[in-house]
Amino acid sequence: FTIPEPVNEPGLNYGPHSVERAMLKKALEEARAQEVDLPMYIGGKEVRTENKIAIRPPHDHKHILGYFSEGDGGHVNEAIKEALAAKEAWENLAWEQRAAIFLKAAELIAGPYRYKINAATMLGQSKNAYQAEIDSACELIDFLRFNVAYMSEIYAQQPASGKGVWNRLEQRPLEGFVFALTPFNFTAIAGNLPASAAMMGNVVVWKPAYPQAYAANVIMQVFKEAGLPDGVINLIYVDGPVAGEVIFNHPDFAGIHFTGSTKVFQTIWQTIGNNIHKYKAYPRIVGETGGKDFILAHQSANPDVVATAIVRGAFEYQGQKCSAASRAYLPKSLWPAIQEKVLDDLQSIKMGPVEDFSNFVNAVITEQSFDKLAKYIDAAKADADVEIIAGGNYDKSVGYFIEPTIIKVKDPKYITMCEELFGPVLTVYIYEDEAFEQIMEVIDTTSPYALTGSIISTDRYAIEKATYKLRNAAGNFYVNDKPTGAVVGQQPFGGARGSGTNDKAGSMINLLRWVSPRTIKETF
Ligand code: NAD
Ligand code: ALA
Repeated sequence: FTIPEPVNEPGLNYGPHSVERAMLKKALEEARAQEVDLPMYIGGKEVRTENKIAIRPPHDHKHILGYFSEGDGGHVNEAIKEALAAKEAWENLAWEQRAAIFLKAAELIAGPYRYKINAATMLGQSKNAYQAEIDSACELIDFLRFNVAYMSEIYAQQPASGKGVWNRLEQRPLEGFVFALTPFNFTAIAGNLPASAAMMGNVVVWKPAYPQAYAANVIMQVFKEAGLPDGVINLIYVDGPVAGEVIFNHPDFAGIHFTGSTKVFQTIWQTIGNNIHKYKAYPRIVGETGGKDFILAHQSANPDVVATAIVRGAFEYQGQKCSAASRAYLPKSLWPAIQEKVLDDLQSIKMGPVEDFSNFVNAVITEQSFDKLAKYIDAAKADADVEIIAGGNYDKSVGYFIEPTIIKVKDPKYITMCEELFGPVLTVYIYEDEAFEQIMEVIDTTSPYALTGSIISTDRYAIEKATYKLRNAAGNFYVNDKPTGAVVGQQPFGGARGSGTNDKAGSMINLLRWVSPRTIKETF
């Protein structure tokens, strides 16, 4: 069999007066007009509970879009039971049949579900149309298409055989079930984490972050319509620690596919370690976690390129991409030109609800996140050694809005240079041009993370030096670009150090974590 050559899904253009904009607006209006009552999906059945949690757009938090049903430990147990019941038939299905289901899911998102999934992401996660399109449409479609192609390559790899001997490598699914635990910020990740494990023949219990409940429901509808058998992926809305208590104590727990914060991942890892004697096999632990992503400009850089990298890298999706630039190191000689261009660009950026397509910045995800960011901004305002050079205002009366904010610090180890804030707040440090070497040492040692980073320069020696010196500081390193926007099949994505196990989402490396190979030698 030959798998269709994977191609990256092109983004739709939602320009004024376009048909695409009209269609997406219609999907948004429909979503706002109805009051949904979203179920969990356990063993293919829709499960609703009395405990309803309201879905509110972060940019309009008084509005209720509907509810989702929250489950408890009993539902987690039920989901595990249904997953294990589906296991034998699913893992014995020819891989080409599994491939067909996920390829169909990709086409459903590219076609009939596109506006619906984008609308759910826009409303539930406060992502504007462009950011929703590159996430819940393009990136999710790409994950599905490219992973199917990688899967076919994995199954094709076989060891050498000799005269009278035939050696085979059987890529067996893990013994038990996989737990997929997904973060609020990317719908593509929400779909990819359960799908990539399931594709390799595993059965999955999937728990999304609550602000993602709406988009997760659409993903589940797509999987079902694509023909995914009941019980292969079970979607539960359960509080994280409640779900963890059941999952990590279960003897059939075989692996976790996690994306989220470093702190939560470390807690989970510790729990798994403490329970290790309870499992049949060592569980696979795959996690993509936090970041403190940087932009380093060299004195040879074009200030306009630096300014664009800053504005797009730090403020798209309100700085809530794991890859978002949150610290920048800029040479003194270029700072005036960079500052002027950045402030100019920020003047033209609008902030507001996603329903107005001209808004570049929307709301941050929750009140908790808003309050945390406001606290950092207030502390910066009160610090005589720190200057707010852009933004600094916030308002949560209608939605959780925080202006794109730039903090300039004298101390390169100031708290906002070190901690992940996860919002539209960038901290900049201005270094003496001749301290380029030393500043790389500072970047490398300032935070425990190593997710993304970029060097902006026209000097080949500087680029080479930064690429080498910062080799452990970012799993995804960019030259002359912002540190966001990795494309599946082109820049496999993942971080090292405190940013994750670096099993590159959307790659063969990742898919190999979901199989346990068996070598078979037959002698004639
Ligand atoms: P989070 O860690 O708060 O939550 C992630 C998931 O874990 C959610 O489903 C949540 O409900 C669950 N959870 C929380 N506490 C738990 C516990 N004690 N036991 C079991 N489950 C628990 O993360 P978030 O706020 O949803 O997402 C933002 C974070 O994700 C940021 O730190 C960001 O950097 C990171 N992220 C990383 C990548 C990457 O590729 N490295 C990509 C996206 C997001
Ligand atoms: N693909 C996303 C980015 O690189 C995570 O921004």
